[in-house]
Amino acid sequence: MALRVAVTLGLPDRLGGDGAPTGDLAAELGVSPVALELLLTHLTTLGIVERTPTGHRTTAYGENLRADADNGLANLLDLGTAGGRAELAFVELAHSVTTGRAAYPHRYGRDFWTDLGEHARLRESFDRQMTHRFEAQLPRVVAGVDWSRFTTLVDVGGGRGGLLAAVLTAHPGLRGHLVDLEPTAAEARRTFGAHGLDERARVTAGSFFDPLPAGADAYLLCDVLHNWDDEHAGLVLARCAEAARPGGRVLVVEGIGGLPAGSEGGLAMLVIFGGRERRLDEFRALASPHGLVLDTVTELTGQRCLLEFRFADDG
Ligand SMILES: C[S@@+](CC[C@H](N)C(=O)[O-])C[C@H]1O[C@@H](n2cnc3c(N)ncnc32)[C@H](O)[C@@H]1O
Repeated sequence: MALRVAVTLGLPDRLGGDGAPTGDLAAELGVSPVALELLLTHLTTLGIVERTPTGHRTTAYGENLRADADNGLANLLDLGTAGGRAELAFVELAHSVTTGRAAYPHRYGRDFWTDLGEHARLRESFDRQMTHRFEAQLPRVVAGVDWSRFTTLVDVGGGRGGLLAAVLTAHPGLRGHLVDLEPTAAEARRTFGAHGLDERARVTAGSFFDPLPAGADAYLLCDVLHNWDDEHAGLVLARCAEAARPGGRVLVVEGIGGLPAGSEGGLAMLVIFGGRERRLDEFRALASPHGLVLDTVTELTGQRCLLEFRFADDG
């Protein structure tokens, strides 16, 4: 919590360079000087700041917590961001384990996505977190799937469009269509524009619980199903299945449950969303009522697999 509060107050940024005297800093931030001194003393113990003759300054180690550090940490620790807020729901883990349901609404009175819809900063910080978390993995996800089999691809819940932009850039014959909620859909439009993909990438602002753009070769769900309980995850799969052209495919990219690499993520999906990382038999059971069978499983990265579903009547 000391790190979280330090980041929330912007201390690693504010105390860069020569730092600042505690009294000045407390007045500037509108916080208790006595309490701030206690916090800074503990941050000194942790090696985040160090004492100067007049106050404290950020150490080289503490620079990792600056907002501009480009490691995604500040965006996860700041209590005013979606990630920081969501992680505090872990305090209610016992509720989730007892009920099998999300702790987030239990703690905050509304679910995660409603919160994002009502607070622009939560939405912006979440989209930034999603973009950052995938940057290093993008090349492997693009290279690990044979996208050239398809001419049309719908990225369902595609976020700001980083993945679809990378896939379309690597496959000039492919056309893409991204579906996500506003204002993320508008961000995706900007992403495609910046990559010169306006001609080949469409964006629809809307819910994936409503009918999806119809007739595409493939429907991609990347890190989407694990955000939802079985009822809702099944509904998203149903929307993909009813929209796909005959012989189309549904591609699920996410972590598979039951593997050590995903154990913490699995708990997070439960606590925040009431979802989970599913085992392969659970994916099969989820897809089968919608006429889909799991065709292949391909490991893409240490954390994510591609699960490719085809229609059962495709033989
Ligand atoms: C975990 S993020 C993954 C984003 C993207 N697929 C990626 O891998 O970076 C889940 C996405 O689902 C979107 N989402 C949540 N509820 C939605 C809904 N009802 N309809 C459409 N998109 C939704 C969110 O806005 C978010 O962009």
